[in-house]
Amino acid sequence: MTNTHILVHTFDYLEPTSLQEAISLLAEYGDQARVLSGGTDLIVQMKMERLAPRYLVSLRRVPGLAGIEVSEEGVQIGARTSIRAIRRDPQIRALYPALAEACASFSTTQVQVMGTVGGNLCNGSPASDTAPPLIAFDAEVVIAGPSGERRLPLESFFLGPGKTVLRPGELLTAVVLPRPRPNTGSVFYKVSRVAADLAKVNGAVVLVRDGDRVADARLVFGSVAPTPFRARKAEAVLVGQVFSDDLVAEAAQVASEEVSPIDDVRSTAWYRREVVRVLTIDGLNEAWRRAGEQGGSEEAGRQGAGSREQGAGSREQGAGSREQGAGSKEQGRRVAADDRCEITLKVNGETHRLWVAPNELLLNVLRERLHLTGSKYGCGIGECGACTVMIDGKLALSCLVLAVSADGSEVLTVEGLAQPDGQLDPLQEAFIEHGAFQCGFCTPGMLITAKSLLKEVPKPTEQDVRDYLKGNLCRCTGYASIVRAVLDCAAK
Ligand SMILES: Cc1cc2nc3c(=O)[nH]c(=O)nc-3n(C[C@H](O)[C@H](O)[C@H](O)COP(=O)(O)OP(=O)(O)OC[C@H]3O[C@@H](n4cnc5c(N)ncnc54)[C@H](O)[C@@H]3O)c2cc1C
Ligand code: FES
Ligand code: FES
Repeated sequence: MTNTHILVHTFDYLEPTSLQEAISLLAEYGDQARVLSGGTDLIVQMKMERLAPRYLVSLRRVPGLAGIEVSEEGVQIGARTSIRAIRRDPQIRALYPALAEACASFSTTQVQVMGTVGGNLCNGSPASDTAPPLIAFDAEVVIAGPSGERRLPLESFFLGPGKTVLRPGELLTAVVLPRPRPNTGSVFYKVSRVAADLAKVNGAVVLVRDGDRVADARLVFGSVAPTPFRARKAEAVLVGQVFSDDLVAEAAQVASEEVSPIDDVRSTAWYRREVVRVLTIDGLNEAWRRAGEQGGSEEAGRQGAGSREQGAGSREQGAGSREQGAGSKEQGRRVAADDRCEITLKVNGETHRLWVAPNELLLNVLRERLHLTGSKYGCGIGECGACTVMIDGKLALSCLVLAVSADGSEVLTVEGLAQPDGQLDPLQEAFIEHGAFQCGFCTPGMLITAKSLLKEVPKPTEQDVRDYLKGNLCRCTGYASIVRAVLDCAAK
């Protein structure tokens, strides 16, 4: 039986410090090697014994792969940019609302912080949340490999479930989006079983308005075909026509007929077709309204500049550029599967030097080597949040982090929340006051996530708290008292 507590599979861990070095390693090891970015998919697949690469090539110290650059032509998003950074970036929110909405709908806060756009696309999943809006905005991907760099439309990047056009030795370095034309409106919708889940169906609508006519339209759906699917027949129904309820209904019918969904664990083909029809109607109406409201993308850009989350967005970009500087002068690392390497971790203010194997997980190192048993093993595959810690001030699911990848980092666990004299953190006090736990199993992860929330959003609404904590599951308390405790702490 699969044991997700540990990573059974062994592999050589390679940490190049330049793009060239990463490419030569990937070229040398071909399909025996895998790129490791945020690890939210790859480590899960390896734990579930669905993938067993002999070499992991971590992009952690490769410079220049993270960050969002806006220019007159559009936006370039580095492949290692986190889903969370894209969601919070004010320019993305203003110019490409459907992309920001897709990132907001994406799983849990922890997975958004760890997961990257490059990993999301290279997964080749038909259910990817970023692919539909990116294709709808005519994104191109930048691919680097042994014979140089090539660019191609994202639409032609996907070949089938889990398959992309990437050749051995190649990796994705960036996604480039052209600036939307004036009077563009866009929207993203997703229907899933629960809030933090892959889509039963998702879809992005991007529409350009010219008076009462549709000047251009893109309809792209996920989870309804072997690859993210552009509904070209439905688009053709719309372009050049006067916008009306009848036109919308016709396009929706055509879209629902041209997709080719299947029955699987998440949904049925019949239901997916119905959802495509309804999402098309809702999406077209909303995108049309937004196109009229915004008066063009330049105006939207100015609106976004004043948005509430602006500061936070730029801070995440800053983290990306710090990473870029870090890699340049250092030596690449290579640890053989049967070897150990020395890492340094500063955990709750105390520095530890440890020898770890490539497949040792941070959660197990914290619990079993450092005897910090606050962080819990719940699911082992990124779904429960019980193992949540902070690494260099950012949330991380320690069950999906290789200890070797955390070398040189500062880690905060629940044991580090109280003062050295035992004075509890105000959040801990609030949890006690409001009876926000019963068995306490989820509480350490819950507290760390809540701490991160209050750092990002000091005065959250109830909805902010519920959304931020949705990746921390509690089996016995119920969430009302936990939400009350966080709100009360924020108020005080
Ligand atoms: C609990 C949970 C919930 C999830 N929910 C969602 C969801 O709602 N929506 C969604 O779309 N996804 C979801 N995912 C899937 C996953 O989190 C995303 O696909 C994420 O964006 C992957 O990014 P990563 O950086 O973690 O990729 P990794 O796991 O590091 O890599 C994923 C794959 O891409 C390859 N790769 C990564 N970067 C590159 C690169 N630059 N060049 C070439 N190859 C590369 C890796 O080799 C690997 O095969 C979920 C995952 C978990 C565990
Ligand atoms: S144990 Fe890490 S998310 Fe469940
Ligand atoms: S308090 Fe028991 S799982 Fe949350």
